[in-house]
Amino acid sequence: MSKFPETFLWGGAVAANQCEGAYCEDGKGLSVQDVLPHGIRGKRTEEPTEENMKLVGIDFYHRYKEDVRLFAEMGFKVFRISIAWSRIFPRGDENEPNEAGLAFYDDLFDECHKYGIEPLVTISHYETPLYLAEHYNGWTNRKLIGFYENYVRTIFERYKGKVKYWLTFNEINSILHAPFMSGGINTPKEELTEQELYQAAHHELVASALATKIGHEIMPDAKIGCMILSMPTYPLTPSPDDMIQVMEDEHKNYFFGDVHARGVYPGYMKRYFREHEIEIHFESEDEEILKNTVDFISFSYYMSTCATADETKKKQGEGNLLGGVPNPMLKASDWGWQIDPKGLRYVLNMFWDRYQKPLFIVENGLGAADVLIEDENGNKTVEDDYRIQYLHDHLEQVAEAIQDGVDVMGYTSWGCIDVVSASTAELRKRYGYIYVDRNDDGTGTLERYKKKSFYWYKKVIESNGEAL
Ligand code: BG6
Repeated sequence: MSKFPETFLWGGAVAANQCEGAYCEDGKGLSVQDVLPHGIRGKRTEEPTEENMKLVGIDFYHRYKEDVRLFAEMGFKVFRISIAWSRIFPRGDENEPNEAGLAFYDDLFDECHKYGIEPLVTISHYETPLYLAEHYNGWTNRKLIGFYENYVRTIFERYKGKVKYWLTFNEINSILHAPFMSGGINTPKEELTEQELYQAAHHELVASALATKIGHEIMPDAKIGCMILSMPTYPLTPSPDDMIQVMEDEHKNYFFGDVHARGVYPGYMKRYFREHEIEIHFESEDEEILKNTVDFISFSYYMSTCATADETKKKQGEGNLLGGVPNPMLKASDWGWQIDPKGLRYVLNMFWDRYQKPLFIVENGLGAADVLIEDENGNKTVEDDYRIQYLHDHLEQVAEAIQDGVDVMGYTSWGCIDVVSASTAELRKRYGYIYVDRNDDGTGTLERYKKKSFYWYKKVIESNGEAL
């Protein structure tokens, strides 16, 4: 008997800005991603420049039919995609939406339903309209709540018969670490105060709760979730001081889940604000709005990290968004992300114990520099046994968590087809079951090829996880 429930939602995930391309077609406005050619570490440019791989992406905008057909062939039950906000509201502050943008997602969702695939839609995935960043300083400005409200009302009304699962903000806690990419905040990170950052986070939290409220009014059957970047933190040593450091580091992430699931600011955060002279400005209605808690908690999981109170060892981990101290017990991917399948079981149990709400793993996977080869029949493919191993080991831990009694709704592995990386903006860092012939120098035919993991995942889904 399979350890996964019959209703388990198997699938894959991508984000509009990392796959669609067509960055200025059919009335789309620019988003923050269009001026970030080097990901989170690099500087933004004034205008979109050709070196930016996201401008073409994998041309999903024109090739989605072929891609959805391939997902269907793997047996996907669900496909996670984001809506590019600036396709619907090119500047972000207009009253009327762009019909061509709305029509594109109508067609995409219809295509998914043709194969019985449920869309799981991220409303805002690191793609705030650039105009909102440049003219309002992104989420530092309370006006963004109103613009987001207009946007969500528009898409909820339009797609209410087509989309049942929604996520309000991708990795909402990352606003503290990547303020421009995550929160459209134009002020350079070095100049931003914690006061401004947490006020921006408050605006997003209110907007998220408002979306949940409006979503339930417009679509009584919809399931609306938050999305947290999860990275379990272990103490570097058994020292109680390291453990307290772990607790404090984790509070910064739990804060976002706690508000979404419980509807109030937690005491530990109020203490942090008091002690750091941060005063969050609440409008009179905010407390009431925040009580609109989510239906489920979704999260990304790629790695764990360590924390220490020892200042001399607090060097940053490489590559990932949250940083942290590397764990001496774990191996890392080629991009320095430490691989820890058991951390996924741990994090599932932690979230479940804390919230008692259904959980959805909406990102997990291995970024690697795949090599396209020709098999004995002359077909192009990738022998990605390392990816199969990674996914197998993580799914085994999901099964363990399910046996622990955790309610897990589904699993959408990240980058089910190769997409442009968020942190480094490379195409070389591939996650897909499907290889896309496109390289970082802009060459490539954009043809799609099935990797070995494509056939493996198909069997996993077919057997509802028994054939791991
Ligand atoms: C998550 C993001 O942080 O990690 C995705 O939600 C991103 O957008 C994924 O692509 C993997 O990160 P990267 O940097 O390897 O693309």
